[in-house]
Amino acid sequence: MDDKGSMDSLDLVSPYLFTYKKRNFLVKDKLRPNDLDTLQHFELRPTDVFLITYPKSGTVWMQQIVVQIMDEAHPELAEDASNRSRVPWLEERSADDPNRERPDPRIFGTHLPPDMLPLAVKDKQIKAVYVWRNPKDVLVSLYHFAQSWVLLETPKSFQDFFQQFLDGKVYMGSWFDHVSEYSAARNQLNIHFVQYENLLKDLRGEVVKLCSFLGQDLTDEAIDRVVESSTFKNMKTNPNANYMELLEKERYKKETMRKGVAGDWKNHLTVAQNQRFDEVLKEKMKTLPLTCIWEMG
Ligand code: A3P
Repeated sequence: MDDKGSMDSLDLVSPYLFTYKKRNFLVKDKLRPNDLDTLQHFELRPTDVFLITYPKSGTVWMQQIVVQIMDEAHPELAEDASNRSRVPWLEERSADDPNRERPDPRIFGTHLPPDMLPLAVKDKQIKAVYVWRNPKDVLVSLYHFAQSWVLLETPKSFQDFFQQFLDGKVYMGSWFDHVSEYSAARNQLNIHFVQYENLLKDLRGEVVKLCSFLGQDLTDEAIDRVVESSTFKNMKTNPNANYMELLEKERYKKETMRKGVAGDWKNHLTVAQNQRFDEVLKEKMKTLPLTCIWEMG
């Protein structure tokens, strides 16, 4: 830890997580509360695009789709570089510098909740894409990811992690809060919601909707290329899309392109855990106006 003073003043949830404004951030990363406050004043350009997710909801997938849409629309700016560097992470200090100079349209990634976004996202009505996913699959994906990413605590057991997820004592806090807050903020933000399960069901249809939201007029052939390059199979073998560089740098212990399906929770949750999850989901999501395409139990 380079800043012992700030470490002492952190509100720790565990040796791996600290809380700031109801969200959990990584003790082992360099980001601290004052950095989060500073990020609120991050300057944006009207052409910037934000990709927003709760962890494990399809972030890397949406990076690939949007980068490919922009490359097809602006071939003169296309680069042979990883999506990790082309979509810098706003709050993760160990990733590429979000401040570095890049041509428009710039794409940023973030897991921050709406009240912690740069103020300009709302003030300048920056285009934002929010991907959300069946939380049971998010839980399972995060459980595996916690065994992979060196910045996270390895879960003691699935049951233990299950409870932490329901209690919001995981990286970035409660899934339920994240989704409800973005749903509540949807009229203040220029935001397009995409469900991971809809991407699985009709990738092309979702790409067409994204092009329209992003104001990018692509030919049918260009749309086909975006779709083809964004399939699980093709992303898994594409070094610009699959984050294998982090495996090579020993930041990850396992591949991030794990299964890429809907419903893997059925292989992990017991009947009792599933019932408990549904109770919490029904209670917390009572006022959610977004329609889920997965079964609510
Ligand atoms: P699983 O762990 O269930 O396989 P994030 O990018 O937000 O961390 O989300 C990671 C999840 O998205 C992983 O889920 C990963 O396999 C899945 N994913 C990434 N690219 C995908 C694609 N092209 N198609 C389907 N799922 C994809």
